[in-house]
Parts: sequence; structure tokens; C-alpha cells
Amino acid sequence: MNTFYSRKSSVNFSDTDCESLSIDAVVDAAMWAPSSRNRQPWRMIAVRNGSEKFTKILNASSESNQVWLKNSCVIITFCTLEIDDLNINKIFLDVGLAAQNAMLMATENGFANHPYGGWKEDLVKDALNIPEKSKVVMLLAIGKEGDADQLPQDLYVKHTKVRERDSLETHFSWDKWGEHF
Ligand SMILES: Cc1cc2nc3c(=O)[nH]c(=O)nc-3n(C[C@H](O)[C@H](O)[C@H](O)COP(=O)(O)O)c2cc1C
Repeated sequence: MNTFYSRKSSVNFSDTDCESLSIDAVVDAAMWAPSSRNRQPWRMIAVRNGSEKFTKILNASSESNQVWLKNSCVIITFCTLEIDDLNINKIFLDVGLAAQNAMLMATENGFANHPYGGWKEDLVKDALNIPEKSKVVMLLAIGKEGDADQLPQDLYVKHTKVRERDSLETHFSWDKWGEHF
């Protein structure tokens, strides 16, 4: 149960010995997410640090994300099967559930991980040969935990920032729309 609470969007990655990082369990966990009509509409494409594709995905990502992303070992692009916008909401939800499973398994296995949405869709699609009818939903960086003391100051601040959530009553209510929603 602690995995739910200890998962965090880490900016503390180390890119040493990335070849040894296996994401098999992470991908398998994603596959076991529920999906509408068991359609399993997720498509996942991984690139490993050191490869030309990794560099392309890095360059397709926003500069603010590149700062920490460059030290990750693997970036998984979560996209949809090829669709004609029918059921798009459900399909996005399903892909998100798969991604959450992946993040929890990565956390469980001691990997730093960070989902992100700051990328250019056309560049990501071009880099990975993703067909036009597939939509990119989310990218997920996975890697080895770095040495926090070696982080540049701005990342160190982010890394040590206390994670917060709103109070429960601003998001949850029984029986009707909540007084504090
Ligand atoms: C769909 C999605 C897009 C995100 N995009 C970014 C991003 O572009 N850059 C970034 O640093 N974090 C990004 N995040 C991470 C969120 O900022 C993070 O989940 C949130 O601040 C809560 O922190 P936590 O994950 O540590 O609990 C994204 C998360 C999700 C789920």
C-alpha cells in the first residue's frame, strides 16, 4: 500500500549503467490495467538513454523537462491504438490507468519515475513512427535514483519540496456535489 504514497514525480535521476535497467515488470503491470471492453487500447514505445531515438524524444520534450529527463534511463511513450475519435475519452482514461500501473510498479522496483506532458506531439510521433490516427497521451521517464547532493540547486529544491494534496472535502463528497467543490 505504501507504493501509492511513495510514488512521486522525481527529478533525481542517474544515467549511470542504464543498460542494466529492466522495464519488463513495469510494462507487464501496465498491461494488467483495466480497460473499457478489455480493449487494451494502450500502445507503449520505449527508448533507452544513449540511443538516437532517446535523443530525439529528449529534443521533442520541453526544455524545462529536459533538465531532469536527460539523466533518466528509459522514456516510455504511452499512446492510443489508431482511433477515429470515437470513445476517445474512455480510451485516454484506459491509457492513463495503464500508465499509473507502470508508475506504481516502477516505484515498487525502486526506480525513479516521472510522467510528463510537455512534448511536441508531431516530433514525438515522427521520432517513433507513430501513425497519424494514434494520439500520444503521456510520456514516462524511468531511471535510477541519483545522488540528491549532486543535483543543481533548482532541481534540489524541487526534489526536496514537500508533496502536497488538497483537503479531501474539496474533492470528495457523499450523495451530492460537495459544499467545498
Ligand atoms: C498527464 C501529466 C502531465 C505532466 N506533465 C508534467 C510536465 O510536463 N513536467 C513536469 O515536471 N511534471 C509533469 N507532471 C507531473 C506533475 O507535475 C506531478 O504529478 C504533480 O505535481 C504531483 O506530484 P507527484 O507526482 O510527485 O505526486 C505531469 C503529470 C501528469 C499526470
